[in-house]
Amino acid sequence: MKKVVMLSASPRPSGNTYQVLEECAKVIEDEGLEVEIIPFVGKNIRSCIACGRCGELSECSQNDGLNDIISKIRESDGFIVGSPVYFGTARGDIMSALQRIGMVSRASDNFLSWKIGGPIAVARRGGHTATIQEMLMFFFINDMIVPGSTYWNMVFGHAPGEVQDDEEGMQTIRRFGFNVASLIKKIKD
Ligand SMILES: Cc1cc2nc3c(=O)[nH]c(=O)nc-3n(C[C@H](O)[C@H](O)[C@H](O)COP(=O)(O)O)c2cc1C
Repeated sequence: MKKVVMLSASPRPSGNTYQVLEECAKVIEDEGLEVEIIPFVGKNIRSCIACGRCGELSECSQNDGLNDIISKIRESDGFIVGSPVYFGTARGDIMSALQRIGMVSRASDNFLSWKIGGPIAVARRGGHTATIQEMLMFFFINDMIVPGSTYWNMVFGHAPGEVQDDEEGMQTIRRFGFNVASLIKKIKD
């Protein structure tokens, strides 16, 4: 079965980012694909230390749990990343994770190439577009395919659950999920 891996970069269990990804996952599952959402709750993802060993190891030299996530992404067809906005940019952990995932891919078998997905930003009030752009840099440099939606992938909410009231934001995410699933079905054999 085709599979999409999602990273939820929020430290809050059942926070807004997780709820938005769940909404996205429902649509993708309705299209017949499997989805796994991996939350960053309780994780402590370190930054790349530029050791240059990922080529020889085909994984990261650091043992903080990211290699398990890398194995799951390697086996997947789609990859979606959701982050809360922190001071106008993505949460630090997720950029650390993306930089290490990207280095392992590029130094080994380019497993990210042609994976379909993209970024989603969640915030109370502002910084969504800069956060989406920041995360897009990872997708585009790694030969990945990012479909659009009917708006940018941004949802408004502060206290956990408030994103459920942003109907336009949630509709944008549902459409994005549908587009990711449809593309996977069309171009992956
Ligand atoms: C350290 C920190 C910085 C934040 N910076 C912003 C910000 O720049 N813009 C904004 O609109 N919301 C900001 N927020 C609010 C969160 O983005 C918002 O509460 C979001 O819904 C959290 O998602 P989560 O429930 O998935 O953790 C910030 C929150 C924290 C903890």
